[in-house]
Amino acid sequence: KENKLWGGRFEEGVTDAVERFTESISYDWQLYKYDIMGSKAHASMLAAQGLVTAGDKDIILDGLDQIEKLIQDGKFEWRKDQEDVHMNIEAALIEKVGEPAKKLHTARSRNDQIVMDLRLWCCDAIDKILTRIKQFQVSLVLLASKYIDLIVPGYTHLQRAQPVLLPHLLLSYVEQLERDAGRLVNCRERLNFCPLGACALAGTGLPIDRFKTAKDLKFTAPMKNSIDAVSDRDFVLEFLAANSIAAVHLSRIGEEWVLWASEEFGFLTPSDSVSTGSSIMPQKKNPDPMELVRGKSARVVGDLMTVLTLCKGLPQAYNRDLQEDKEPLFDSVKAVLGMLEGVPFRTSHEIVGRSVALCLSKNCQLAELGLDDLKAVHPVFESDVYGYLGVENAVNKFVSYGSTGSEQVKKHLEDWRAQLGIS
Ligand code: ARG
Repeated sequence: KENKLWGGRFEEGVTDAVERFTESISYDWQLYKYDIMGSKAHASMLAAQGLVTAGDKDIILDGLDQIEKLIQDGKFEWRKDQEDVHMNIEAALIEKVGEPAKKLHTARSRNDQIVMDLRLWCCDAIDKILTRIKQFQVSLVLLASKYIDLIVPGYTHLQRAQPVLLPHLLLSYVEQLERDAGRLVNCRERLNFCPLGACALAGTGLPIDRFKTAKDLKFTAPMKNSIDAVSDRDFVLEFLAANSIAAVHLSRIGEEWVLWASEEFGFLTPSDSVSTGSSIMPQKKNPDPMELVRGKSARVVGDLMTVLTLCKGLPQAYNRDLQEDKEPLFDSVKAVLGMLEGVPFRTSHEIVGRSVALCLSKNCQLAELGLDDLKAVHPVFESDVYGYLGVENAVNKFVSYGSTGSEQVKKHLEDWRAQLGIS
């Protein structure tokens, strides 16, 4: 009881089991940077509004800096009896600087504090994912440039359908990734509003300046409705949904590359640095990272389902259930970042092995038949038929916008090189 910040009205402490069941510090400590950032902005605003003295504010800011340093150096003791990241930091601050620290929680509640932390965390996480998506796009475009003339079979129903340029196929991934990035950018724009000052749910009677804290923390503006501010996790859902779509795209790429790496397709040989072997079958070289790209998409989709289900029955304003949003959110971001790194394109220059076009012409192709043979099929054939037969001719007959014809693909590739800043 004594050591809980909310212990005032309680006569008994919680049981160990309840403490273990309700704590979130084991994972929400990851929010510490944002929690401290928010506390500093809040303290500065309180001082600017005359709600704490400038002297107290300086003591608070200094204490928070010291705590941040301790955390970064791994010297901070996270305590389960302090429940969550907010109370751990605040209790440590009180221990460090005494009375002034007790004024920090003026016009604030953990309910608005947690959403602020989470929104700031999401902005940074989205930026990290966007950077990795761009890096992956660059790798794909470089690979496309390298194999500018390589023709591969295009499949429908997993049956060979029409020959296409490999760069055309690779740029189809680039386009999908661009939409994935766009969804994340939209999500970031929509979530970048500041809940601070909503307090528990109804706001406060004190003369706070929500525009100041919002601006200091680089939010677009304060959220307009205090109940909405502490209620909703739609921004988490949107982020998880955008991640899920991206993960499904990456999973499909993973699947395609697993197929290509098989003896049956033989279109690519993953370099040793991205393959694993078998303990019992020495001849094996397995494309495990690509399989795991496919596999990890499952948890990303699962994380979205978890939070959708979590939110569906909640009445408005804060409910403790919402604490359960963090682990799926963290998990989804970790998985997507890992998938974008895992896709073994870093070594892509070595991985496209045998010439794929060769596979196409292994058996006798129409173009290899003599004119006599063709005339036997139909007398209409003349020698100009060779200008139409063969995969190169077939590919170059495509001229429509967005098609696999080499003029189109080269133009498309140039556009992407410019857009991604590849010289
Ligand atoms: N740790 C909580 C969470 O992650 C935030 C604190 C609000 N808790 C409360 N009992 N009002 O959602």
